[in-house]
Amino acid sequence: MSQYDVVVIGAGPGGYIAAIRAAQLGFKTACIDAGVNKAGDAPALGGTCLNVGCIPSKALLQSSEHFHAAQHDFAEHGINIGSVKFDAAKMIERKDAIVTKLTGGISFLFKKNKVESIHGKGSFKGKNGDLYQIEVDNKGEKSLVEAKNVIVATGSVPRPLPQIAIDNINVLDNEGALNLTKIPKKLGIIGAGVIGLEMGSVWKRVGSDVTILEVLPTFLAAADQQIAKEAFKYFTKEQDLDIQLGVKIGEIESKKQGVTINYETADSQAKKETFDKLIVSIGRIPNTDGLNVEAVGLEKDERGFVKVDDECRTNLPNVWAIGDVVRGPMLAHKASEEGVAVAERIAGQKPHLDANTIPFVIYTDPEIAWVGKTEEQLKAEGIEYKKGTSGFGANGRALGLGKAKGTVKILSDAKTDRILGVHMVGPMVSELITEGVIGLEFKASSEDIARIIHAHPTLSEVLHEAALAVDKRALHG
Ligand code: FAD
Ligand code: NAI
Repeated sequence: MSQYDVVVIGAGPGGYIAAIRAAQLGFKTACIDAGVNKAGDAPALGGTCLNVGCIPSKALLQSSEHFHAAQHDFAEHGINIGSVKFDAAKMIERKDAIVTKLTGGISFLFKKNKVESIHGKGSFKGKNGDLYQIEVDNKGEKSLVEAKNVIVATGSVPRPLPQIAIDNINVLDNEGALNLTKIPKKLGIIGAGVIGLEMGSVWKRVGSDVTILEVLPTFLAAADQQIAKEAFKYFTKEQDLDIQLGVKIGEIESKKQGVTINYETADSQAKKETFDKLIVSIGRIPNTDGLNVEAVGLEKDERGFVKVDDECRTNLPNVWAIGDVVRGPMLAHKASEEGVAVAERIAGQKPHLDANTIPFVIYTDPEIAWVGKTEEQLKAEGIEYKKGTSGFGANGRALGLGKAKGTVKILSDAKTDRILGVHMVGPMVSELITEGVIGLEFKASSEDIARIIHAHPTLSEVLHEAALAVDKRALHG
């Protein structure tokens, strides 16, 4: 039986990074993962993020954005290409190639760093002295490994909707939504969260008639509401995404010809709509399925997350948990940073992760990104703040790109000027937000950003102007 210093269960962005860092720190490390490729005939590392999440969704967003630009934006540049055709199957093929390249890349990194990759489903079996025993089930073939330290990184799965089961034929979760090879004429989406907006954007751009049904009366309730309202206007008024807020979903029936949803609108009207395909994206739940936590007494909270403290320690000595399976935002970079931190803690180091500096990005067009507190949070917490905003409308680079839309907002402490939050909707704000993260992490003031030289012409000048605006000295506002 093999014994390891560290065994990681799950090779998503939490687990694979934890395994690599542990091996770099000199631990004999193995990573157990049950993931398989799209065809289901070979192991595929990388978890949700690489296989059916972040990476494939961004590939489709890019393809659909190109198609949309070719149809609607090229002409103003003097590029006339006549009619443009879209090949959904080709787009999916390209996406699959990117996924294969990256998942294969993790196997390479494991070999390079001497992480032993074990394919199969891992479950706790018990203890042998101080060592944890983990059984690995690879299609019925069972083996046992022992570990001094265990890192649970088993991720999350889509939250099911009680009214209808996912079949990934007509009723789709993220996996099905990322694999449509024919454009649905009418696409219904339940949940106007991150997946709903990103997948809705993809299929809308290539020709679907998209309706998004959201239970909450507020659009993107976790985002700063000034930014969320502006984004809502772009999506509904300019892009014609039909986003209905405050709806109550009733009975759903799926037949060969489509999916019929009965629902009640915010003003209590009964509605019935039939869609060719329905995407259910109502959040995700922690995945501890088959992990057999009872064998060792690993505690979960009332919502099913593995219980951890601020440093990802579980109730058991030398058992840690990271990523989507524990509290906090379900984001790949949060999972990875927790993975690094845990490996370093096992090595006796003292890394620090600040939950308040985790950036959020939604890859719509325009993109939405933020870090730190929203204006609503500051008001609720009674924190006095100053605010500076600036728009992309007159930014030279944004105009050149044909994407001169959006706003950057900086919130800073009324007395000390320390940056408390940065919120953006606009072109490539997924990249710009890092400046906000650095600002928060280094406890910068808005004046610090205002006094830093930003290259011209760049999108980052809008952030610079927003910082100047905090002190009411914007130069272009
Ligand atoms: P996962 O990535 O879920 O990996 C868990 C792994 O553990 C899987 O490989 C699974 O097979 C394996 N596993 C589970 N149980 C066992 C077991 N018992 N034994 C062995 N292996 C097991 N986040 C972002 O930051 N940016 C984005 O743009 C983004 N886009 C997304 C788009 C979509 C459509 C979705 C669904 C998610 C997206 N996310 C995004 C979220 C991101 O994918 C997750 O936050 C991230 O994958 C979590 O990483 P993890 O390592 O905790 O878990
Ligand atoms: P989400 O939490 O972002 O959004 C779910 C939405 O569904 C919410 O607005 C919620 O109010 C709504 N909802 C819940 N129950 C409902 C019901 N019965 N009827 C109608 N609406 C209902 O979750 P989503 O979009 O499923 O994504 C899961 C997670 O994956 C996200 O929380 C995020 O962490 C991650 N993700 C991150 C991305 C990124 O970083 N760009 C992209 C996609 C996913």
